[in-house]
Amino acid sequence: MNPFGDIRHFAEIDSTNRWLREAATTGNAVHGTVAIADRQTAGRGRLDRAWIAPPGSALLMSVLIDPAVVSLPVDRWPMVSFCMAFAVQEVANGFPDLRTPVSLKWPNDVIVIGDGHPVAYRKLSGVLVEVSGGRLVVGVGVNLQRPAHIDPSLGVAASPVWLCELTNFPVERGAFAAAVLASFATGLDLLASSPGLLLDRYRTVLSTIGWLVGIESHGKTWTGEAVGLDAGGRLVVVNDEGTHHVDASEVLHVRPVSP
Ligand code: BTN
Repeated sequence: MNPFGDIRHFAEIDSTNRWLREAATTGNAVHGTVAIADRQTAGRGRLDRAWIAPPGSALLMSVLIDPAVVSLPVDRWPMVSFCMAFAVQEVANGFPDLRTPVSLKWPNDVIVIGDGHPVAYRKLSGVLVEVSGGRLVVGVGVNLQRPAHIDPSLGVAASPVWLCELTNFPVERGAFAAAVLASFATGLDLLASSPGLLLDRYRTVLSTIGWLVGIESHGKTWTGEAVGLDAGGRLVVVNDEGTHHVDASEVLHVRPVSP
């Protein structure tokens, strides 16, 4: 059951995030409006990167959140992306025969670690939250069906994983979207009422803690051990120079590095 009322479906659009931002401005979308596309021609990822998904392979969805409606003070807005990433992992991990559990890479990537692949992790899903006119557009892309052929010229991210590779159960996009929206709504309620509890839940599925991480930020790359999260959801990283509280908005890359 979808807790958000109004779902707009597009066979093709440039970007569901772009559309929802504009619709919010023109009064064509309100808190809880959801946009879902079969295909995006200009899908956007974090840090101005493109988000490319072959048609029909992914859930491409954005939700408009008015923080006033869900009683979210501004210092909790950065954690809204945690609620969406958590929701995707919860629904994915709910497939009873999942071959490899999915987990989170701070701040909001949903990943699979290992699984016989040479890369450190493969990405199932990413979240892009944009603030516009005091409202939040929460966009999520989830790789569901592996395309029969991946056109290299499309520039699909280097190491994706598709949910259908991890389960023998049919992955149905509408049901998956509804379950993600339900879990996301629960997470938002928790973030509003008890942010500490929301962070506790998020930590239980966060793989980043304990990693030696390479942080790229403000043109500098440095390393340290990720040891925890602070009360604002910043990653706490320790190295010889001290303890650093890393803010997601300032970070280009967080990568596991070999010791
Ligand atoms: C990332 O990992 O960089 C975030 C990717 C977010 C992609 C989704 S797909 C639906 C919504 N519309 C967009 O243009 N981007 C987000």
